[in-house]
Amino acid sequence: MAVTGNRPAAARRLAAASLGRGDPVGWFEELYAAAGRGEAVVPWAEYIPNVHLVAWAADQEVTGSGRRALVIGCGLGDDAEYLARLGFAVTAFDVAPTAVAQAKSRSAGSPVEYVVADVLNPPPAWRGAYDLVVEAYTVQVHQGDARATAIGNIVDTVASGGTLLVVAHARADDEKRGSMPWPLTRGEIEAFATDGLVLARVDEVHDNMPPGRRWRAEYRRPEVVSQVRE
Ligand SMILES: C[S@@+](CC[C@H](N)C(=O)[O-])C[C@H]1O[C@@H](n2cnc3c(N)ncnc32)[C@H](O)[C@@H]1O
Repeated sequence: MAVTGNRPAAARRLAAASLGRGDPVGWFEELYAAAGRGEAVVPWAEYIPNVHLVAWAADQEVTGSGRRALVIGCGLGDDAEYLARLGFAVTAFDVAPTAVAQAKSRSAGSPVEYVVADVLNPPPAWRGAYDLVVEAYTVQVHQGDARATAIGNIVDTVASGGTLLVVAHARADDEKRGSMPWPLTRGEIEAFATDGLVLARVDEVHDNMPPGRRWRAEYRRPEVVSQVRE
């Protein structure tokens, strides 16, 4: 599909056309490719790490110390590179091959492992493998069964003793949203606390990119301590 005219509107048109043909994620690749040709902008690309992730990490005095981190729907890689600078061994993935290629070329020589993968069908080796998992604004592009599958698959990646941080646009239970993205209700934020994951805190945060309420939620998987018989 040719991308013409107003650039943010071009992204919305690509999304609508993709959803219309029953392909809810295909437009991401089209958008990153069009942006690479200078024909569109990626509306969420700020070229800095997520401010809510940075504030949380500063507040918690998070350091990686070689522990493993996974970034969901990493886009152009700013959050992944930030976590690598904190000392994590980072894997970052996106369903759009062009996003992954652009992330790699923006950070040549980076220690981050960038991978093309789908949160709806992640590699089995990722189960329980990550000490820190960061999800920002990817679940909200999925609806229905896909949304529940994405949440379950993200939860699955958190290691024993690990942490999941979720940042998402927020909506009230009775607030209807017609078009993508579909912000998360408080109940959907609580739904990540499943399969042994415990909700540690939820903050309602704001920023201007674009203006609006967000959830920033932190979950912990209690460490399994193996019992040694005397
Ligand atoms: C709204 S953007 C957010 C990007 C980045 N996390 C950020 O905060 O700027 C959603 C990202 O998720 C990716 N994505 C969408 N569906 C995905 C899926 N099923 N699996 C992996 N990545 C996906 C898109 O290509 C896009 O880069």
